[in-house]
Amino acid sequence: MQRIAVLTSGGDSPGMNPAIRAVTRKAIYHGIEVIGIKRGFTGFIEGDMMPLHLGSVADIVQRGGTMLLSARSEEFRTSEGRKKAFENVKRFGLQGLVVIGGDGSFKGARVFHQEYNIPIIGVPGTIDNDIVGSEYTIGFDTAVNTVVDAINKIRDTATSHERTFVVEVMGREAGFIALTAGLAAGAESILVPEKPFSIDDICHKLLRGYKRGKLHSIIIVAEGAAGGLKVGEQIKQKTGFETKVIILGHLQRGGTPSSYDRVMASCMGAKAVELLMNGAKLKMVGLHGGKVTDMDIDDSLLKKKPLDIEMYDLANVLSI
Ligand code: F6P
Repeated sequence: MQRIAVLTSGGDSPGMNPAIRAVTRKAIYHGIEVIGIKRGFTGFIEGDMMPLHLGSVADIVQRGGTMLLSARSEEFRTSEGRKKAFENVKRFGLQGLVVIGGDGSFKGARVFHQEYNIPIIGVPGTIDNDIVGSEYTIGFDTAVNTVVDAINKIRDTATSHERTFVVEVMGREAGFIALTAGLAAGAESILVPEKPFSIDDICHKLLRGYKRGKLHSIIIVAEGAAGGLKVGEQIKQKTGFETKVIILGHLQRGGTPSSYDRVMASCMGAKAVELLMNGAKLKMVGLHGGKVTDMDIDDSLLKKKPLDIEMYDLANVLSI
């Protein structure tokens, strides 16, 4: 294994830079050259590459985003697009690839491996934390902290004006951010795609809380469960409470990675290089039982990652 490449793909997440740094420095430590592919699979197709040296990844461990940029590539879904990418594998003499991204990126990587047999290791990098087989995806902790910090600030003004706030968070198909941040921030209700909800039940709980003397309420909504604006409108109509809506959006994707994300990214990035060195063909690095391990990418794409329903029920109980 003389030369490998690394790319970041899909929605960026805080921690991708520490992961790129770990891949680069671990590989160079073992005498392996590293090529950085810019803009995910788009750059892979276009041959948008840059050599990565020890100094190339200096001073990025603390930076959010990804120094290699990221993209969602429609062209890589086509065999013609993947053929162009393989031309670049040959042109740059690549013997292995590390893909830092979410399950969509891993799906593309799997097809590419099946067609061209280049060894590929996936590193789970998405704020959604929705990749089967890994208890953790890089960026999740930082995103949750961003949401909790925002809710702490919202609480101040919600209390001062005795208002109800609906906070919409990211998570197109999964409610991990909403649930974890909701529990941490003490939200009154948490709406996730995985669990049907009744707006009447939510309003009933709000009215009960108001009667108990609650000065304000926070409802956190995963974008995949419902639109925050619509939920806010319904609450206002049914309860008469002054209700405001805040959509946190891409704020959740930025910021300096938390120490946990930096450590996870460093361990997972280094593990990916180890797997390539040991001859792995198509694996995903993951956190399992608190240890950084690996699994077949196929197994991680088979099903949806279930939400922790015990945690969901606990959040409900603690916010009565
Ligand atoms: O997959 C991560 C994620 O942040 C989702 O939570 C969100 O729905 C999506 O990316 C947004 O994608 P984009 O940045 O392309 O709008």
